[in-house]
Amino acid sequence: MEQTLSIIKPDAVAKNVVGKILSRFEDAGLRIAATRKMQLSRADAEAFYAVHAERPFFGELVEFMISGPVVVTVLEGTDAMIKNRDLMGATNPKEAEAGTIRADFAESIDANAVHGSDSVENAAIEIAFFFAQKELS
Ligand code: CMP
Repeated sequence: MEQTLSIIKPDAVAKNVVGKILSRFEDAGLRIAATRKMQLSRADAEAFYAVHAERPFFGELVEFMISGPVVVTVLEGTDAMIKNRDLMGATNPKEAEAGTIRADFAESIDANAVHGSDSVENAAIEIAFFFAQKELS
């Protein structure tokens, strides 16, 4: 059993498609181990995305992630990390395969509806960033 972190970003929360996106995870056989709606602080967003601090898009990424509430979720199941990435589609929604979350709900590479951990190792780090062990079923 593997766990991975999903963030439903401010654009998708504003569009009122949180339930639709969570259903896609469940329909694919993933379980919701923990979930929370929250407003990220600037410090939260900068720390969460610290790996991108030197990238030219870092400032816009942080601004976008604090522009409204997000829904952070721990997904659990066999091959959860890669399953979630397949469900999300490519980072740039213009390159995302039809039927993926980003193809269906995202507008741009910044407002791209969802984040998902990109490795099992990073998933553990990202889950611990948001959730205490006792919150994880
Ligand atoms: P995410 O999976 O949340 O990880 C970092 C985010 O940076 C990414 O999704 C995009 O929303 C955003 N981003 C903006 N520009 C780029 C870019 N050129 N390459 C990768 N990510 C980008």
